[in-house]
Amino acid sequence: MSFKLDCIVGARPNFMKISPIIREARERSIKYRLIHTGQHYDHDMSDTFFSDLDIPVPDRNLGIGSGSHAKQTGEIMIRLEDEFVQDRPDMVIVVGDVNSTLAAALVASKLGIKIAHIEAGYRSFDRTMPEEINRVIVDHIADYLFAPTDDAVLNLKREGIDENKIFMVGNIMAETLLDNIETIQARMVFKEFGLDKKGYALATIHRPENVDDPVKLSEILRAFSETPIPVLIPLHPRTKERICEFKLGSHINGNIITTKPLSYLDMMSFLDNACVALTDSGGLQEEACMLGIPCVTIRNNTERIATIKIGANCLVPAIRGEILQAVTEAASTTTKAWVVLDGWDEKVSRRVLNVLEEVLLPSS
Ligand code: UD1
Repeated sequence: MSFKLDCIVGARPNFMKISPIIREARERSIKYRLIHTGQHYDHDMSDTFFSDLDIPVPDRNLGIGSGSHAKQTGEIMIRLEDEFVQDRPDMVIVVGDVNSTLAAALVASKLGIKIAHIEAGYRSFDRTMPEEINRVIVDHIADYLFAPTDDAVLNLKREGIDENKIFMVGNIMAETLLDNIETIQARMVFKEFGLDKKGYALATIHRPENVDDPVKLSEILRAFSETPIPVLIPLHPRTKERICEFKLGSHINGNIITTKPLSYLDMMSFLDNACVALTDSGGLQEEACMLGIPCVTIRNNTERIATIKIGANCLVPAIRGEILQAVTEAASTTTKAWVVLDGWDEKVSRRVLNVLEEVLLPSS
């Protein structure tokens, strides 16, 4: 007897998390369906990740697109319910914390379909973040919670989640990075931009709390324009829109180089050769830590607390002077090799699928 998994993705940070799971499922000849909600739809926000990571073309693309949180989440739920009812899976796999993750988990839960959540237990303890709401709800309705760190396990236990549902498997993003490390290291894309190895900062800024606030966005761009090293920023569509809307284009001087969003392999290559990462993204904090690049996170909190504890990452508010100081400090330290966190290796998908096979296959 076999079982069928439905793997749900929707937004850019989901794609690298599902890639090793799909590869491992294929190697084990497990039946699966890959469903893309279409939350991210631009070529640069979606398609390039499928080609870079060799992820098969999704079996379904629901084409939902952008909208308010309620509209986006609601429409994904309506379409996914049809999919699950017409071709009921034995388990739904959701990854990360985006609106597609929440929508899929809610639909599966109400249909009585088992849910596996990969990257369970991260908490920023900031309920103003849409992702924090998504994480908390998904973790409380999921049946199998795959945690990336010991801190994440502790968070889940503190919330009263049954220990038998929690599996500390490590960080799936680490597996994706390690799977692709040779290709990443062979790329030298920074040269095409006239940058020097370890002579620039790689920055990503897209979180609504930073870019939807003209004062904060202006502080961040001013800091980037004054750092002692050039700053490369691949612009998320939202950030690009806000820079135009708030008329902040004049802050982008010769020190800031902007590009369209980068593919996974290009982004990791730029990160690997950077001297420091400046970000408000979640995943980049982990990838910088894996590659030994100091990270300055422009937020008041982070759910990736393990990267702070080992000294790979620091938090700064969106204030020009504080960002400048943190960049100068991080840039002056030579690249460090932090301790490797438990389970941040190339066997995460194996650990996940071992658990799923054990619970889904009838014992002989
Ligand atoms: C989403 C995730 C966030 C993640 C980010 C990574 C939620 C709540 N947030 O935020 O956790 O860090 O993805 O990128 O799910 N847009 C385009 N083209 C696209 C996608 C988006 O132009 O392909 C623009 C639209 O103007 C859209 C805006 O970006 O309104 C925001 O997109 P949305 O998917 O709502 O959230 P993100 O900010 O991308």
